[in-house]
Amino acid sequence: MNNKLSPRLKVIADCVAGVKTMADIGTDHGYLPVSLVEKNLVSTAIASDTNEKPLAKAKKIIKEHGFEKRIETRLGSGLSVLKPGEVEVFVMAGMGGLLICDLLEAERDVAKKTPRMILQPMNNQAALRRYLEGNHYKIISEELAREDERIYEVMVVEHGIMVFNNPLEYDLGYHFMQNKHPLLKDLINRKISLEENIVKNTRGKETPFAKKQFGDSSRYIQKLNEVKKCL
Ligand SMILES: C[S@@+](CC[C@H](N)C(=O)[O-])C[C@H]1O[C@@H](n2cnc3c(N)ncnc32)[C@H](O)[C@@H]1O
Repeated sequence: MNNKLSPRLKVIADCVAGVKTMADIGTDHGYLPVSLVEKNLVSTAIASDTNEKPLAKAKKIIKEHGFEKRIETRLGSGLSVLKPGEVEVFVMAGMGGLLICDLLEAERDVAKKTPRMILQPMNNQAALRRYLEGNHYKIISEELAREDERIYEVMVVEHGIMVFNNPLEYDLGYHFMQNKHPLLKDLINRKISLEENIVKNTRGKETPFAKKQFGDSSRYIQKLNEVKKCL
Protein backbone atom coordinates (compact mmCIF):
# COMPACT_ATOMS: atom_id res chain seq x y z
CA MET A 1 0.00 0.00 0.00
CA ASN A 2 2.78 2.42 0.85
CA ASN A 3 3.90 2.31 -2.77
CA LYS A 4 0.42 3.51 -3.65
CA LEU A 5 0.75 6.61 -1.52
CA SER A 6 1.21 9.72 -3.61
CA PRO A 7 4.07 12.09 -2.64
CA ARG A 8 1.47 14.29 -0.91
CA LEU A 9 0.06 11.43 1.19
CA LYS A 10 3.59 10.17 1.96
CA VAL A 11 4.51 13.55 3.45
CA ILE A 12 1.30 13.50 5.50
CA ALA A 13 1.97 9.92 6.67
CA ASP A 14 5.45 10.95 7.84
CA CYS A 15 3.90 13.78 9.89
CA VAL A 16 1.48 11.35 11.59
CA ALA A 17 3.88 8.47 12.24
CA GLY A 18 4.63 7.39 15.79
CA VAL A 19 1.31 7.82 17.57
CA LYS A 20 -1.04 5.11 18.83
CA THR A 21 -4.31 6.44 17.50
CA MET A 22 -5.16 8.68 14.58
CA ALA A 23 -8.24 9.73 12.65
CA ASP A 24 -8.39 10.52 8.96
CA ILE A 25 -11.27 12.95 8.48
CA GLY A 26 -12.51 12.91 4.87
CA THR A 27 -10.62 9.70 4.19
CA ASP A 28 -12.15 8.97 0.74
CA HIS A 29 -10.13 5.95 -0.52
CA GLY A 30 -8.71 5.22 2.95
CA TYR A 31 -5.13 4.88 1.65
CA LEU A 32 -3.62 6.94 4.45
CA PRO A 33 -4.88 4.95 7.48
CA VAL A 34 -4.31 1.63 5.69
CA SER A 35 -0.71 2.52 4.93
CA LEU A 36 -0.06 3.80 8.47
CA VAL A 37 -1.48 0.65 10.05
CA GLU A 38 0.23 -1.64 7.55
CA LYS A 39 3.62 -0.16 8.42
CA ASN A 40 2.78 -0.21 12.15
CA LEU A 41 3.29 3.56 12.27
CA VAL A 42 0.01 3.76 14.21
CA SER A 43 -1.75 1.02 16.19
CA THR A 44 -5.33 1.91 15.37
CA ALA A 45 -7.10 4.41 13.16
CA ILE A 46 -10.52 5.87 12.50
CA ALA A 47 -11.36 6.52 8.86
CA SER A 48 -14.31 8.85 8.43
CA ASP A 49 -16.14 10.55 5.62
CA THR A 50 -19.33 12.53 5.32
CA ASN A 51 -20.32 10.71 2.13
CA GLU A 52 -21.30 7.06 1.94
CA LYS A 53 -19.65 6.32 -1.42
CA PRO A 54 -16.10 7.24 -0.43
CA LEU A 55 -16.55 5.53 2.92
CA ALA A 56 -17.60 2.37 1.08
CA LYS A 57 -14.33 2.60 -0.93
CA ALA A 58 -12.36 2.90 2.30
CA LYS A 59 -14.25 -0.02 3.87
CA LYS A 60 -13.42 -2.19 0.85
CA ILE A 61 -9.70 -1.48 0.94
CA ILE A 62 -9.58 -1.91 4.73
CA LYS A 63 -11.25 -5.31 4.33
CA GLU A 64 -8.93 -6.32 1.49
CA HIS A 65 -5.98 -5.68 3.81
CA GLY A 66 -7.63 -7.47 6.75
CA PHE A 67 -7.48 -4.39 8.98
CA GLU A 68 -11.15 -4.28 10.10
CA LYS A 69 -10.10 -4.68 13.73
CA ARG A 70 -7.54 -1.89 13.61
CA ILE A 71 -9.31 0.66 11.41
CA GLU A 72 -12.84 1.68 12.31
CA THR A 73 -14.93 3.50 9.71
CA ARG A 74 -17.38 6.23 10.72
CA LEU A 75 -19.89 8.14 8.62
CA GLY A 76 -20.35 11.80 9.50
CA SER A 77 -19.20 15.35 9.00
CA GLY A 78 -15.80 16.54 10.20
CA LEU A 79 -14.90 16.08 13.84
CA SER A 80 -18.46 15.19 14.86
CA VAL A 81 -17.45 11.53 14.47
CA LEU A 82 -14.91 11.82 17.30
CA LYS A 83 -15.20 12.13 21.07
CA PRO A 84 -12.95 14.77 22.67
CA GLY A 85 -9.54 13.23 23.38
CA GLU A 86 -10.29 10.03 21.47
CA VAL A 87 -7.27 10.27 19.14
CA GLU A 88 -3.79 11.75 19.45
CA VAL A 89 -3.81 13.22 15.98
CA PHE A 90 -6.31 13.80 13.21
CA VAL A 91 -5.70 14.55 9.56
CA MET A 92 -7.82 16.79 7.33
CA ALA A 93 -6.30 16.57 3.88
CA GLY A 94 -7.40 17.30 0.36
CA MET A 95 -10.16 19.68 1.50
CA GLY A 96 -10.58 23.40 0.97
CA GLY A 97 -8.97 25.67 3.56
CA LEU A 98 -12.29 27.33 4.42
CA LEU A 99 -13.98 23.96 4.94
CA ILE A 100 -11.16 22.98 7.30
CA CYS A 101 -11.75 26.23 9.29
CA ASP A 102 -15.47 25.46 9.43
CA LEU A 103 -14.88 21.88 10.60
CA LEU A 104 -12.43 22.98 13.34
CA GLU A 105 -14.89 25.64 14.48
CA ALA A 106 -17.92 23.31 14.41
CA GLU A 107 -16.39 20.93 16.99
CA ARG A 108 -14.05 23.15 18.99
CA ASP A 109 -14.17 20.75 21.92
CA VAL A 110 -12.79 17.87 19.88
CA ALA A 111 -10.22 20.06 18.13
CA LYS A 112 -9.03 21.58 21.42
CA LYS A 113 -8.67 18.17 23.09
CA THR A 114 -6.67 16.63 20.25
CA PRO A 115 -2.95 17.27 20.83
CA ARG A 116 -1.94 17.45 17.18
CA MET A 117 -3.58 17.92 13.80
CA ILE A 118 -2.19 17.59 10.29
CA LEU A 119 -3.91 19.93 7.85
CA GLN A 120 -3.42 19.95 4.10
CA PRO A 121 -5.67 22.58 2.53
CA MET A 122 -6.09 22.56 -1.25
CA ASN A 123 -6.70 26.33 -1.34
CA ASN A 124 -7.25 29.33 0.95
CA GLN A 125 -4.09 28.45 2.90
CA ALA A 126 -3.73 32.07 4.08
CA ALA A 127 -7.27 32.10 5.51
CA LEU A 128 -6.56 28.86 7.38
CA ARG A 129 -3.27 30.24 8.84
CA ARG A 130 -5.18 33.37 9.93
CA TYR A 131 -7.87 31.24 11.58
CA LEU A 132 -5.25 29.14 13.39
CA GLU A 133 -3.40 32.24 14.60
CA GLY A 134 -6.64 33.77 15.91
CA ASN A 135 -7.77 30.64 17.72
CA HIS A 136 -4.73 29.63 19.78
CA TYR A 137 -3.38 27.06 17.41
CA LYS A 138 0.31 26.94 16.57
CA ILE A 139 1.84 25.61 13.37
CA ILE A 140 4.89 23.77 14.71
CA SER A 141 6.22 22.69 11.33
CA GLU A 142 5.23 22.70 7.69
CA GLU A 143 6.11 20.55 4.72
CA LEU A 144 5.70 20.85 0.98
CA ALA A 145 5.03 18.03 -1.47
CA ARG A 146 5.14 18.14 -5.23
CA GLU A 147 2.92 16.15 -7.55
CA ASP A 148 3.37 17.07 -11.20
CA GLU A 149 2.73 20.82 -11.46
CA ARG A 150 1.12 21.19 -8.05
CA ILE A 151 2.78 21.97 -4.75
CA TYR A 152 0.85 20.94 -1.65
CA GLU A 153 1.20 22.61 1.75
CA VAL A 154 1.06 20.40 4.84
CA MET A 155 0.77 22.00 8.30
CA VAL A 156 1.53 20.26 11.59
CA VAL A 157 -0.57 22.06 14.18
CA GLU A 158 -0.65 21.95 17.98
CA HIS A 159 -2.09 24.27 20.63
CA GLY A 160 -0.34 27.48 21.57
CA ILE A 161 0.34 31.03 20.50
CA MET A 162 1.68 31.94 17.08
CA VAL A 163 2.02 35.43 15.67
CA PHE A 164 2.86 36.18 12.07
CA ASN A 165 5.03 39.27 11.61
CA ASN A 166 5.06 39.47 7.85
CA PRO A 167 1.76 39.41 5.89
CA LEU A 168 3.37 37.17 3.27
CA GLU A 169 3.83 34.44 5.88
CA TYR A 170 0.07 33.80 5.86
CA ASP A 171 0.26 32.85 2.24
CA LEU A 172 3.72 31.33 2.01
CA GLY A 173 4.06 29.78 5.46
CA TYR A 174 6.43 30.99 8.19
CA HIS A 175 8.45 27.77 8.29
CA PHE A 176 8.92 27.53 4.53
CA MET A 177 10.19 31.12 4.49
CA GLN A 178 12.46 30.69 7.52
CA ASN A 179 13.96 27.41 6.31
CA LYS A 180 14.01 28.39 2.66
CA HIS A 181 12.33 25.08 1.85
CA PRO A 182 13.72 23.58 -1.38
CA LEU A 183 10.22 23.62 -2.90
CA LEU A 184 9.44 27.21 -1.83
CA LYS A 185 10.48 28.63 -5.19
CA ASP A 186 8.10 26.21 -6.92
CA LEU A 187 5.33 27.13 -4.49
CA ILE A 188 5.88 30.82 -5.28
CA ASN A 189 5.92 30.13 -9.02
CA ARG A 190 2.63 28.27 -8.68
CA LYS A 191 1.08 31.18 -6.75
CA ILE A 192 2.40 33.66 -9.33
CA SER A 193 0.89 31.64 -12.14
CA LEU A 194 -2.53 31.60 -10.37
CA GLU A 195 -2.34 35.38 -9.86
CA GLU A 196 -1.27 35.90 -13.48
CA ASN A 197 -4.49 34.22 -14.57
CA ILE A 198 -6.45 36.68 -12.43
CA VAL A 199 -4.50 39.61 -13.93
CA LYS A 200 -5.20 38.27 -17.43
CA ASN A 201 -8.92 37.94 -16.71
CA THR A 202 -9.31 41.37 -15.12
CA ARG A 203 -7.04 43.43 -17.40
CA GLY A 204 -8.90 46.30 -19.07
CA LYS A 205 -12.15 45.61 -17.18
CA GLU A 206 -13.88 48.72 -15.85
CA THR A 207 -15.97 47.35 -12.97
CA PRO A 208 -14.71 48.48 -9.53
CA PHE A 209 -14.16 44.92 -8.29
CA ALA A 210 -12.21 43.87 -11.39
CA LYS A 211 -10.08 47.03 -11.24
CA LYS A 212 -9.27 46.46 -7.57
CA GLN A 213 -8.51 42.79 -8.17
CA PHE A 214 -6.24 43.67 -11.09
CA GLY A 215 -4.27 46.10 -8.88
CA ASP A 216 -4.11 43.71 -5.88
CA SER A 217 -2.95 40.78 -7.98
CA SER A 218 -0.38 42.83 -9.89
CA ARG A 219 1.12 44.15 -6.65
CA TYR A 220 1.07 40.68 -5.13
CA ILE A 221 2.97 39.22 -8.10
CA GLN A 222 5.59 41.92 -7.62
CA LYS A 223 5.98 41.00 -3.92
CA LEU A 224 6.24 37.30 -4.71
CA ASN A 225 8.95 38.01 -7.27
CA GLU A 226 10.86 40.02 -4.65
CA VAL A 227 10.72 37.09 -2.18
CA LYS A 228 11.90 34.75 -4.95
CA LYS A 229 14.95 36.90 -5.57
CA CYS A 230 16.01 36.44 -1.90
CA LEU A 231 15.97 32.64 -2.09
C1 LIG B 1 -10.56 15.18 -2.23
S1 LIG B 1 -10.99 14.03 -1.06
C2 LIG B 1 -9.52 13.88 -0.11
C3 LIG B 1 -9.28 12.48 0.32
C4 LIG B 1 -8.07 12.25 1.21
N1 LIG B 1 -8.22 12.90 2.49
C5 LIG B 1 -6.81 12.72 0.53
O1 LIG B 1 -6.23 13.71 0.99
O2 LIG B 1 -6.41 12.11 -0.46
C6 LIG B 1 -12.06 14.90 0.04
C7 LIG B 1 -12.93 13.96 0.88
O3 LIG B 1 -13.49 14.73 1.93
C8 LIG B 1 -14.82 14.29 2.12
N2 LIG B 1 -15.53 15.37 2.82
C9 LIG B 1 -16.03 16.53 2.30
N3 LIG B 1 -16.62 17.25 3.27
C10 LIG B 1 -16.49 16.56 4.41
C11 LIG B 1 -16.89 16.76 5.75
N4 LIG B 1 -17.59 17.85 6.11
N5 LIG B 1 -16.58 15.82 6.68
C12 LIG B 1 -15.91 14.71 6.34
N6 LIG B 1 -15.51 14.44 5.09
C13 LIG B 1 -15.79 15.36 4.13
C14 LIG B 1 -15.32 13.99 0.72
O4 LIG B 1 -16.43 13.12 0.74
C15 LIG B 1 -14.08 13.35 0.10
O5 LIG B 1 -14.09 11.96 0.26
